Amino acid sequence: MIKTSAAVCRNLNEPWTVETVEIDPPGPRDVSVKMVFAGLCHSDEHLRLGDVGAPPEVLEMIGVESLYPVIGGHEGAGIVQEVGAEVTDLKPGDRVVTIFIPSCGHCFWCASGRQHLCDLGAATLAGPMMSDGTWRHRLGGQNLNRMGQVGSFTDLLVCDARSLVKISEDVPMDIAAVVSCGIATGFGSSANRGNVRPGEIVVVVGCGGVGHGALLGAMAAGAETIVAVDPIPFKREHAQKVGATHGADSMASAQELVSELTNGRMADIAVLTPGLLKGEMLAEALPLISKGGRVVCTAVAPWDAIDAKVSLFDLAMSDKAILGTLYGSTSPRVQIPRLLDLYRAGKLPLDGIVSRRYSMADVNDGYSDMDAGNTIRGVIEF
Ligand SMILES: NC(=O)c1ccc[n+]([C@@H]2O[C@H](COP(=O)([O-])OP(=O)(O)OC[C@H]3O[C@@H](n4cnc5c(N)ncnc54)[C@H](O)[C@@H]3O)[C@@H](O)[C@H]2O)c1
Ligand SMILES: [Zn+2]
Ligand SMILES: [Zn+2]
Repeated sequence: MIKTSAAVCRNLNEPWTVETVEIDPPGPRDVSVKMVFAGLCHSDEHLRLGDVGAPPEVLEMIGVESLYPVIGGHEGAGIVQEVGAEVTDLKPGDRVVTIFIPSCGHCFWCASGRQHLCDLGAATLAGPMMSDGTWRHRLGGQNLNRMGQVGSFTDLLVCDARSLVKISEDVPMDIAAVVSCGIATGFGSSANRGNVRPGEIVVVVGCGGVGHGALLGAMAAGAETIVAVDPIPFKREHAQKVGATHGADSMASAQELVSELTNGRMADIAVLTPGLLKGEMLAEALPLISKGGRVVCTAVAPWDAIDAKVSLFDLAMSDKAILGTLYGSTSPRVQIPRLLDLYRAGKLPLDGIVSRRYSMADVNDGYSDMDAGNTIRGVIEF
């Protein structure tokens, strides 16, 4: 049996606490990884606070009574320690990042090039090891879930090989960690799901880690005007330093600004990356976009929220689209190495995205800083 330290949420709304976790020896399809950095994505907080959740019938289907206790973290980068006998594509010493939607490579979705929709994604909420269906992680005799089938807030990670992507030796590991979810998701929200075309006008609503990814995706796709919306000056000013052409403190002020900038035609795309998506935000987002425009919803909404305020007349009569996106609608196995290649080539300005490093014991401080708007992305350094 392996013992390691991990940041765990024992129950809904309880803080992260560092615990000694017991892990049974990795199975033939598992890999152990010495973590180097883990990113503080908002989604882990959503799990802790219950925005990410599921009705009882879904919990029953995935074979769990509760989503807690859970090891937090799904963004991360580390170095492979050991691989199981059946793992052929990784070896000790390889550098890897974690992915919160595993990819099996042969389900309908993977086979059609959409690994972000892999059927294994159903297991990502909670549950035993995907590799053999056994519970391998324990806290004081209790079975432990791992956020996204990963749980990257840990000194030593043991996960299914399908939750890992190999990266090259020469990218900084903190950069790799934040690209593994936040940047990849945001980038794909603009460049892939939003299908930003050269010369278009994009509004990015919420300038955290994911919003910065959306900004970078819009820039790479050739957007001409990019309006960064965030109530916190540091956030939108940082986005403007990175490449947003304008800033606004709310969607309402963005509407005035975009109207002026476009002589009333409005934006082609609005990407919604606030901390939490609320139904009423759609009422503000739809008027931001032009006829034929699209709104991309990236942020997580409370799982049981079903009300959205939308002018259905405007939606149909103005030929608008409201699109959801998971992982930026791009196969993480393709997207993450590509983005890291772009970074290496100096074409993806990611320096400055990691604002602060924390020890695992300070993970709650990291999230307080996120809430207060003091960081673009915090990371745990192991
Ligand atoms: N769809 C996916 O696959 C996916 C993947 C990763 C993260 N997410 C979600 O994306 C969202 C963003 O994640 P993050 O880690 O960047 O969060 P974050 O908290 O770091 O950033 C959110 C930003 O939104 C700003 N904000 C809040 N309300 C706003 C409003 N009304 N208008 C404009 N800005 C507002 C905040 O000031 C903050 O800067 C979260 O909901 C997260 O769970 C979704
Ligand atoms: Zn699959
Ligand atoms: Zn994430």
